[in-house]
This record gives sequence, structure tokens and C-alpha cells, in this order.
Amino acid sequence: MLTSTADLRSFVVSQHKLGKKVGFVPTMGALHEGHLSLVEASAKQCDATVVSIFVNPSQFGPNEDFQRYPRTLENDLSLLQKTGYLQAGYMTGGEQDTAVEVFVPSITEMYPAGFDTSIHVGSVSQILEGKSRPLHFQGVATVVLKLFLASQADTAFFGQKDFQQICIVRKMVSDLNVPIEIVMCPIVREPDGLAMSSRNRYLSASERRQAVVLSQSLRLAEMMIVQDNIRDAAAVKRAAEQKIRTAPDAVIEYVSVADSVTLDELQRIESKPVILLAVKFGTTRLIDNLVLSL
Ligand code: PAF
Repeated sequence: MLTSTADLRSFVVSQHKLGKKVGFVPTMGALHEGHLSLVEASAKQCDATVVSIFVNPSQFGPNEDFQRYPRTLENDLSLLQKTGYLQAGYMTGGEQDTAVEVFVPSITEMYPAGFDTSIHVGSVSQILEGKSRPLHFQGVATVVLKLFLASQADTAFFGQKDFQQICIVRKMVSDLNVPIEIVMCPIVREPDGLAMSSRNRYLSASERRQAVVLSQSLRLAEMMIVQDNIRDAAAVKRAAEQKIRTAPDAVIEYVSVADSVTLDELQRIESKPVILLAVKFGTTRLIDNLVLSL
């Protein structure tokens, strides 16, 4: 396990010297199958993988869940161990040796005393999640850029569930010429369709049952767009909202039918729309999305 950025850099340099391609999977821990699918994707596409585990304080607002965010390091490591990912020489499909390292920095390692720089990505970070979480993406962009620069990894893997986060990371990487490839991996869902998230554990049994309306509303939107050829974004949005409201405890923050690059709201649905939503159940805020190719 690596804890300093100097050791992280040495690990990646040593892999590069061996001619290996290094993948990076940034996480805040509380690992679940969604994270493991990112590690799996990296293991398939790269020769070595770094998984970072760091609950980043700068992306939590003052009234958000930084203090109670699950910290399950032992469990995370044993999950990676059990799946075999932590053993150097783990075979992907019998073809390739893959070493996986874990990077677990302290807060002072990432933000030493006097740290005073932040990355602000423009308009795409102001809408949707950015409206109710004003400094969230600044914190995400800052820590992600630090991780990219500290590691010098070749490719980074992000889950589609945080779709806006990926748009912001892509924009930052493109605007600042950061030499890293960004790969988006599909959302991993529970059998009933709920997108996997470290925050699902906060849901009460009743909220958990009701939370299935999120993926159901996305499937309804998909049917309207793909099967019924409906192109009126407002009609699709209304139907998705109605579906979510069938859950008595659901409080909708937003449902958006948007362009999948700029995240600008659409009036007429065109080639590659994304439907994004954020819904609160009690104190737990869940997000989900669906990208369509028409
Ligand atoms: O998606 C997350 O878990 C976090 O936002 C990330 C990318 C690890 C940055 O802290």
C-alpha cells in the first residue's frame, strides 16, 4: 500500500521503465462492485493499476456527509484481495500480468498546510449537481488533477454513474492538456436496477424499496424516446418525474434531458441525449442517468 505521492510516482515510474501502461482508478473507498468493474476494466486495458482511496474533504459542502461518509479501508483491501486484484501477477483472461497497487494518502499528504490552489471548471460545473453543491466540482477537479499529476498514469477509469463528474474531468483534461486518457465504464446496478453507490447503505429498508423508481423512470424515458419516437424533451421529463413521484418519500432535485457533452437542457431530443436525475430519500441523495445513442 502506498501512502505518499513520492512513492506513488516511484511505482508508476518503475512500471513505465518496464514498458507497462498504468491505469488509475480514483475512489473514495467504500468499494462495491461498481468500483471493482473499474479495476477490472483497468486490468484489461493496462498492465498495472493504481486504485486510490481518499475521502476528499474539499468536495463536501459544510452540511454534507464528509464526517459520516463510510470509511471501510480494511474491507476495501480485503475485497480487492479476495477478487485477486491485489496480487501482482493476477491474470486477466490468462493473457496478461497485472499488478494492482493501492494509494491511500492522508489528508495532509494531499493538502499540506498552506495548500491554496483550486481548479474551477467553467459552465458545465455550475448546473445540475453544481447548483445544489456549489463547491463540489471544484474539490473534485482539484483532487483529480493532483492525483493525475502525482501519478502520471496513462489512463483513468471513471464510472458513468457520476456522469457530470466525467464531463468535468474530460473538460479539465482537454483545457489543461493533461496527458491522460479518460475511460467511462457503464453503471453497475443491483438486480432491481438501483445504481450501485456507497451512499445506498444510508437508505432505510422502505427507502431502499422505493429507490427502484429511479432506474424505472430512466427506462420509461428510454422507451418513450427509442420506441415511441418522442422528441419533446419536456414530455419525457414530465413522465420521468411522474414515475419518481409514485414513491411517497422521493423528493426530486432535478430531472434533466440534456446534451451528453455540454449537459445543456434540450428542448428537442437529438442524437446523443443523456437523462440525468437527482432524488432525495430522507437525508440520502441519489443520482442516476442514462445515455442514449439515437
Ligand atoms: O467519484 C468519486 O468517488 C470521487 O469524486 C473521486 C473521483 C474519487 C474524487 O474524489
